[in-house]
Amino acid sequence: MSAATARLTPRAVAEPVDDAGPGLRAIGALSRLYSKLVAETPAVTALSPARPRRRGGFEFEAVVDRIEREADDVRSFLLRRPDGAALPAWRPGAHIDVTTTSGVLRQYSLSGNPVAADCYRIAVRRVVDGTASSEMHRLREGERLRIRGPRNAFPMARAPHYLFVAGGIGITPILSMVYAACHQGLPWVLYYHGRSRSSMPFLGELEGLAERGGGTLIVADDDVDGPPGIDAILTHAKPGGALYACGPAGLSAAVRARSRVIAPNTTFHTEYFSPPPIVDGEPFEIAMQSTGERIAVGAHESALDAVRRLRPDQAYSCRQGFCGACVVGVVDGQPDHRDRVLGDIERGSAMTLCVSRAALDETLTLDL
Ligand code: FES
Repeated sequence: MSAATARLTPRAVAEPVDDAGPGLRAIGALSRLYSKLVAETPAVTALSPARPRRRGGFEFEAVVDRIEREADDVRSFLLRRPDGAALPAWRPGAHIDVTTTSGVLRQYSLSGNPVAADCYRIAVRRVVDGTASSEMHRLREGERLRIRGPRNAFPMARAPHYLFVAGGIGITPILSMVYAACHQGLPWVLYYHGRSRSSMPFLGELEGLAERGGGTLIVADDDVDGPPGIDAILTHAKPGGALYACGPAGLSAAVRARSRVIAPNTTFHTEYFSPPPIVDGEPFEIAMQSTGERIAVGAHESALDAVRRLRPDQAYSCRQGFCGACVVGVVDGQPDHRDRVLGDIERGSAMTLCVSRAALDETLTLDL
C-alpha cells in the first residue's frame, strides 16, 4: 500500500454521511448490515478462506485446430477457442488441465511460444496402457476438449544464463523457456536426451531456435551416445545462472545431486513428470470410514497407491500434490501434508492421497 493510500483510507471511513442523499444513506446502511452479518462473524472465514485451493484460471471448451506428429508416439495438439478469440496469457513452465472426452483429467505443459496469444500447444506421448494418452491420440482435428488454466507450478526465474536439461517428453515445458530466453536475448544451453533421435519431439524446431536465438543445443540419445554424462552437462552451468531439469525422475535427481558439487552457485529447478520419490516415508495405516476396511501403506508407497489396491477408481491426476484431484476428507488422525494445493483451513479436515502421509506412526481414518 502506498503512503498516500495509508493516509487517506481512515479519513474516508470516518467521514460523516449526514449530508448524503437518501440513496447514499441506504447504501451505507446496507453496507453496515453486511459488515455485521458477514464480515464481522466467523462466516467470513468460510466464505473467503485465506488460501483457497488453487483451482484458479479459466475453464472453457477448446477446438483441436491442428494435430502434428512430432516423434514416435508423440503428437502435438494446437488448441484454440471456438470463436478464435485470444486465450489467457501464460508464462513458460505453465500447464493446462485437459479433460478428455471420457472425463479423465490430465495436466499437459504448454509447449509453444508464450507470445502466441490465440492458441495453446500441448504434446502427448502415448504410453502403454495409458488411458488418457490413448484417448488424446485418437482425437481428430475439429473435435473439442474442456480445458482449464493455465497454471504454473514450474515458473521460469529471471537469470543471466540458463542451462536446460530435458529428457524425452520433459522437453515440453523447457521448449517454452527456450523461446522466452531467445526473446529476451539471454544466453542458454539445452542438453536434450532421448531414447533415440526418432523418439525426441521438436528437434527441428529447437535447431531453428538455436540458430536464430544464439543458444547452444546439445542432442544425445541412448542408441548413439549412451546414458547422459551428468558431470559433462554441468560444465555448461554458469555461476549465478539457472539450471532447469525436466524428464525422468532419475535424470532430474542425478542433475540435482551433482549440481550441488559441480555447480553450487547455480539455482536448480525441476518439474517431475511422474510421482516424486518418497522422502522419509514411514509405514502407516488407513481406515476407510464407510466400510471399516484397513489398508497398510508401506514406507515406499503413496497412500493413493495403497487406496487404489482396494478402490481402483479412486480419482487422481498429477500425482505430485498440485492438482487437488485426489483430495479426501480426514475423519481422524494427523496427516503430514506434503502437497502444494490445500490451504491451511482445508488442511484441518482433508489431505491429498498422492503425496501426503500420516504425521506419526498412526492410523488415518479417511472419508472413503
Ligand atoms: S493427484 Fe493431483 S494432488 Fe493428488
